[in-house]
Amino acid sequence: MRIDIITIFPEMFDGPFSESIIKRAQEKNLAEIHLHQLRDYTTDKHRKVDDYAFSGGAGMVMMIEPVARCIDALKAERDYDEIIYMSPDGELLDQKMANMLSLQGNIIILCGHYKGIDERIREHLITKEISIGNYVLSGGELAAAVLVDSMVRLIPGVLGDETSALSDSFQDGLLSPPVYTRPREFRGWKVPEILLSGDEKLIAEWKYEQSLKRTKERRPGMLDEES
Ligand code: ADE
Repeated sequence: MRIDIITIFPEMFDGPFSESIIKRAQEKNLAEIHLHQLRDYTTDKHRKVDDYAFSGGAGMVMMIEPVARCIDALKAERDYDEIIYMSPDGELLDQKMANMLSLQGNIIILCGHYKGIDERIREHLITKEISIGNYVLSGGELAAAVLVDSMVRLIPGVLGDETSALSDSFQDGLLSPPVYTRPREFRGWKVPEILLSGDEKLIAEWKYEQSLKRTKERRPGMLDEES
């Protein structure tokens, strides 16, 4: 999978993309992530990418020209399956969406700033808008990092068997069951006996019941959703 991210703050991705699973995915050539500084695509001598909103109102607006120029340059090199704009107005990211997107070959992610982006970018250049939650961030970068993490860990081969995404919360429409490690007892708090029994069938049943119980208690809405 190839992911091209358009941003005015490429350094914001240094941490999230150079550690742990995303780092490993890139090293294994299972994910290729390219960062593009939007300011490199402006013809303005001050490298300005924002301007005042027509009709006034508070806040600056991201201009269409540099964004269009950057997207055109990328599209001239290859086809893209989706051109995504990170926005609180977008469709809410969930595990199902992450699964679908992880199957794509090439995607572009545009990170917005200021009061928003010129509406014509959304109308004519963007194919999908995604929100990571009902709150407003200062820009699209943190949201894009969340989206990339949720997709990349699902690419086959990125996670080993022991950390397989198949056992993640949400993956089968249920939250994950509780997990324990050594010691068997700490301050009198014991690991459930059944997990030490070695009986795989009973353990599998227990895990399923715990998942169901946890989902009913914490996210009852998930049980009504069609998968
Ligand atoms: N940009 C600002 N807030 C956002 C959010 N909640 N999700 C995605 N992109 C955003």
